[in-house]
Order: sequence, then structure tokens, then C-alpha cells
Amino acid sequence: MLYKFLWRNLKGYRLLVLLAVLITVTQVFCDICGAFPLKFIPSKVQNAGNDPSCTFPFLNPILDKFDIPQIDPSLQPLAPGQPPQPPGLTQCPISPSDPHPHLVTSHHTTNGVIVFSLLVLIVFGILNALLIYLDLYLAAKIAQSLTARLRNQLFDHLQRLSLDWHGKQKKGDLVNRITSNIADIEKLVTDGLVDLMAGVLTLVGVIVVMLIFSPPYTLIALALAPALFLTTLLYTRNIRAAAKRASKATGQVSDVATEDINALTVIKVFTREERESMRFGNYVDLNRKASLRAGGLQAQFTPLVGLLVALGTATVLGVGGYVAAGNTFNLGFFTIAPLSVDIGTLVLFMTFLNLLYQPMRDLSKLATLSSTATAGAERIQEVLDQAPEVLESQAPYHGPTRLRGDISFENVFFGYVSERPVLKGINLQLPIGRKVALVGLSGGGKTTLVKMIPRFYEVAQGSVRIDGVDNRQYPLTVLRQNVSMVLQDSVLFEGTIAENIAIGKPGAAPQEIMDAAMKANIHHAILNELGGYERLVREQGKDLSGGQRQRIAIARAILRDAPILILDEPTAALDVEAEAEVMRALDQLIVGRTVIMISHRLSTLGNVDEIIVLKDGQIAERGNYRELKQAGGVFASLLQEQNRYNQEAALSNRLRFGQKGIPHGSTSIHQPATPQPERTHLHLAAGHCQCKYTVVYGPGHCSPDRCAPTSPAPDYCTGYSLTRRPGTCQ
Ligand SMILES: Nc1ncnc2c1ncn2[C@@H]1O[C@H](COP(=O)(O)OP(=O)(O)O)[C@@H](O)[C@H]1O
Ligand SMILES: [Mg+2]
Repeated sequence: MLYKFLWRNLKGYRLLVLLAVLITVTQVFCDICGAFPLKFIPSKVQNAGNDPSCTFPFLNPILDKFDIPQIDPSLQPLAPGQPPQPPGLTQCPISPSDPHPHLVTSHHTTNGVIVFSLLVLIVFGILNALLIYLDLYLAAKIAQSLTARLRNQLFDHLQRLSLDWHGKQKKGDLVNRITSNIADIEKLVTDGLVDLMAGVLTLVGVIVVMLIFSPPYTLIALALAPALFLTTLLYTRNIRAAAKRASKATGQVSDVATEDINALTVIKVFTREERESMRFGNYVDLNRKASLRAGGLQAQFTPLVGLLVALGTATVLGVGGYVAAGNTFNLGFFTIAPLSVDIGTLVLFMTFLNLLYQPMRDLSKLATLSSTATAGAERIQEVLDQAPEVLESQAPYHGPTRLRGDISFENVFFGYVSERPVLKGINLQLPIGRKVALVGLSGGGKTTLVKMIPRFYEVAQGSVRIDGVDNRQYPLTVLRQNVSMVLQDSVLFEGTIAENIAIGKPGAAPQEIMDAAMKANIHHAILNELGGYERLVREQGKDLSGGQRQRIAIARAILRDAPILILDEPTAALDVEAEAEVMRALDQLIVGRTVIMISHRLSTLGNVDEIIVLKDGQIAERGNYRELKQAGGVFASLLQEQNRYNQEAALSNRLRFGQKGIPHGSTSIHQPATPQPERTHLHLAAGHCQCKYTVVYGPGHCSPDRCAPTSPAPDYCTGYSLTRRPGTCQ
């Protein structure tokens, strides 16, 4: 699975991979060749007949070049002008185990062999260094390209997946897939491509060469290898498991820290500091224990490997030296003939042994790497395999890109999970320019209903039509460009305030942005309170007040100028004063559009054409304020409930402030209400102060002298937004 995944995603880099493999093969070859001089010199020095050309006859012409008087003075010509002396003939050692020995001679000088060997050592050393550089660089290049490609692809795909799918995922988990899972794959490619290949090649190459020199000596040299391999495998596995637990605990530590730091206010309010410290401490403790176990195992593992390597070296050195000294080594049916190993071979085997240990360690490390990378690849592929959002219609679209805003729901059924329907047969016609309010108990499916319009979710049954056409027939971009939404809590993006407004219409001119801000009632606030249009927004706009964020969102929507406007409790999170400002901004926004407004505050529903009451996923009643109130149904009872609350609040307010009204600089409860609104500036009877603004709804029900909290609350006017600010008194 992993290799298929890599193969598929390395498209365009496959040639590079092939090149890297070829370089690795060459590099390992150089590595092994570079070890031979370590044999040549001691062998030649110990026995002049034991020449490199005995084993490798093809070296004869090369070695001849080194048999010159400048290197070996004994070759000086007898008289000047004569050719140099030829080096004396020597006899190559005869393998004691060879049943048909034949005489081979060699004729190179010791000095020549030494200089030649040193040159070979240096040349292969340089070659090796160059190739390793190339190899690592290529691996890094491939890995980085792969990582960048996977990240972009995954992120792109994530944005295309439906909200339905996203609703079922954990955010942290998705971020994890983009960052650390991809990093795991990257690690496998950088470390694995070079180390794994080079490791396997070195193991095979070295063992083959050793076998050529002396099979029995090879077996002795490798006797401890299985023990080493097993130890490595075992320890690595345990260390990996402990490290995994430790990293999980680290994740928990950071989760708790993030959660608590974000909720510091709540923690202080409920004085939970100690409890939270304890909870945090528990995770820290878990982390400490798991990390300690990993560290402890590592502490055992390193010296254990060192010990095994030392034992292996001792065996090779002991047996080699014993045989080189002319003894026969006997161990059961295992015999090494005397002199079949000389000092040169011994040194070569020692070098090879060192070459072998590293790949063994690498290979067990790679087992870990590839298992995490496989898991990572599976998690990435899982996301990539998700079909992108609601399927786009295949038919080419030739219709208008700006819709008019006629909406109709026809027998719409929908549920987030199929066994629990949220919308149960919605039928609703909204002609162009109609403004309706959607009310109902929390969880009744209001938000769900409006999400069907821009096709955030697919209806299970029935259809949603815009301008008479099923919304599944529009390309998603066309459909969504025609729907504006202002939600309960608007999110701002990193960037300036101007950029945030311009999201509604990319490339909008500064003047357009400013016009929109003026209509949204935020222009002055931007200039005076926020520090201008170029002010940078931080942390999704958390450094702005809720009302300011909402009004910026409204400016966005004004700029977007879509024919359909959805307001999902845009003022629910605001205080009274901010609500009044946002409501004023909304008044500008709703002009000339089809509007669906969801609101809990029934009192803000004064200026809609119709109120639609949703209950248990069905439309329970619809009509205007007065009709619904008189019908005595769901709406009336909702209203009654809110009125009772407001009266209680008004009463407690009166007790607090007395009959005289509201003290300077404070805001009384509450809010405007009722069907026919009427905007009035009122004078407070008691204080002769002008209210900054007051919204009073309902003909005749709120008279100026009632601006102070009254009891009982008048019929429609369940409360008022009254602000008496210092300085506005006349
Ligand atoms: N993303 C979601 N996944 C699963 N269930 C959801 C999701 N969003 C809302 N619901 C459920 O659907 C029902 C209606 O929710 P919603 O439309 O948000 O209600 P309202 O906006 O009227 O308060 C609720 O029972 C809620 O728990
Ligand atoms: Mg809702």
C-alpha cells in the first residue's frame, strides 16, 4: 500500500528516484572498494608475495605504473641512461584448501603497492563523499517535493469536502494529517530511500565479498549478527511503543493546556485553578513516565549493542590472528586452514564488520519508519478518497450568473444521520424580495433549513428551487455567489479590515469598501475606534467587539450584494446597544433582497413580511405577528414565555433604578418589539435628556414618558433600548 501510494504521488519525480537509486548503488560499491587498500598494505608488508594482483590480476598494468625508481629507490638503473631495474618476481600465496594449486607469480614492489593503495583509498573516499552528498540532496529534494505536493493536494481536497463530512471529523485530527502524517512520509523518503537501499546493498555486497575471501571466516565473523539483529529489533519495537505513548501524552498535555488557556476566564470565575492544575499534572506525569521508559530502554540498548559489537570484533580478531599465525582453527565440523587468513584479510574483515553493523541498526529503525509512514499514508489516502462535496451537475450551465432570489422548498426531508431526520417535509415559497423570519425552539432545525439553500448539505428527499430551478443544477460557485449569510458570530480573517470587507467582492475599490462600511454603520467606528481600514485583524477578529465584527460582516454582505440574504441570529451574541447598531446596519442590507432571518428574540421581528414557525422539523404555523399572536399557537406561547421573562427583568430593573429612569451612562434593558416599527427619538421625561437613540415599536404603546422601565410592560413594547450618555443631555 505504502509503495503504491509513493509511486503514485511521485509522478514527475520518478526519474529522480531512479537516479538516486543508481547513485546509491555506486556509492555502496565505492564504499566496499574503498576497504580493500586496508588489506593490500598489511598483506604486502607481511609477505612480499601477497600482492593485490594475486587476487585481482587486472590490476597488473596499473600497478606496473607504480614500479618506478621515484617510488622504490631499489629500481634505480645500474648506470645513468639505462632503463630502470625490473622488480623481482615473487610467488603468490597458495590457498591451503586448494586441491589443485598452481603457481602464480607477481612482481610488484612493496612501496608501489603502498602508494597505489593509498591513492585508491583517497580516490574512493572522495568519490564516496561526493556520491553521499548527491544522494542525500536528491532524497531531500524528492521528499520535499512530495511533501509540498501532498500538503497542497490534501488541503485543496479538504476544502472541497462537504460540511457534512467535516461535521463528523475532529479539527485537530485533520490538522494532524496535514502536518505530522505527511512529515512521517517525508522522513521515510529522506531517511529510507538512502539508508534502506544503501543498507541492503551494503549487507549483501559485504557478505558476498567476505564469502569470496574465506567462507568459514565469514561465518565466524557473522556469528553474532543474528543476536545483534534480534536485540535491535526487540528494543526498537519497545522503544517505539513507549515513544508512541509518550507522544500521545504530549498531545494530551498540549490539548489540556490549549483548552485551559482558552478558558482561563471560566477557570477563574469558577476558581478551578487547583483542579485544572491537578488535571494538567496528571497528563504531565503520564508523559514523564512514558518518556522515561523510552529513555530507559534507549539507555540499555546503546551499551548492549556496543557490547555485542565488541564481542564480534574480539571473535574476528582472535580467530583471524590465530589462523594468520599458522594455526588451524577447529570448532566442531568447522575448520579454518592455517594461513588461509592473513593480517590483511583480518583487517579487511574488521572493516567490513563495521560496515555491517550500521545497516543492521538502520534497517530496524526503518521498520519503524515505514510502519508509521504506512499509517500516515493510509490516513492521507482516506481523506483523498472522500468524494468531494455535493456533486456538481455534469450538464453545462448556460443560465444567468445573477439569480433573482425566488426560493421554494418542495417537500424537503433531511437528517445529518439518516435515522434521525431534522427536516420532515418542508414546503415553503418565498417570492423575490420577501422578508421572512424563521422562529422556533432551539434545535428545531432552523439553521439546518437555511443551509439547504446554498447546498451546504444535500437534501435527502424533495428539492430546493431557486428561481424555479433545482439548486442542484447550478454550479456551486454560481449558487453560492447568490447567497449572503450573516451568522451569529462572524469570523474575520488575518489581514486588514479593508481586506476583510473586500472578501464580499474580491478586487473591490477602496471607495466601494468605504461605502459598504458606511451603510453597515461601521465606518466611523473603523476610523475612530479601530484605527483605520488598514488596521490588522488578529486571531479571527477576537480583538474586535462582537458588534463590530457583525457590522463588518454586514459590510461584507452589502458589498457582495447577493439577491438572497440569510441572517442566522446575527444579534444573538450581542448586548443591547450593539444589537441596536447591528439592527440599523441590517436595515440597509435587507433592502431589495429575499431575506430569511432567524431570530430568538421575537421582539426584533417587527419589520418582516411573514413569520414562519418551525417545530420538530416541520412548519407549524406562518403569518404576521398579530395573526400568530392571536392564533394562540406555538408562536404565542413562545412570545408569552419571553414576555414573562422581560417583565420580570423590567421589574427588577425598576427596583434597581427607581421610577426616575436610568442613571447616566448606563443602558437599561431591553429591546424593541412588535410589528410596525417606528423609529423615534425620545426625551426622557425625568432627566430632560435625549436618548441617544431609542427604538420604539408599536403604535402608541410606548409614549415618551414610558421610556423609563414601566410595569406592567406595554402590550408590544416589552422593553426599550435606552441609553443616556453623559454629554448628550441638552
Ligand atoms: N453538523 C451536525 N451534525 C449532526 N447533527 C446536527 C448538526 N447540526 C445540527 N444538528 C442537529 O440537528 C438538529 C437541528 O439543529 P439546528 O438546525 O442547528 O437547530 P436550530 O438552528 O433550530 O437551533 C439538532 O438536533 C442538532 O443537534
Ligand atoms: Mg441555529
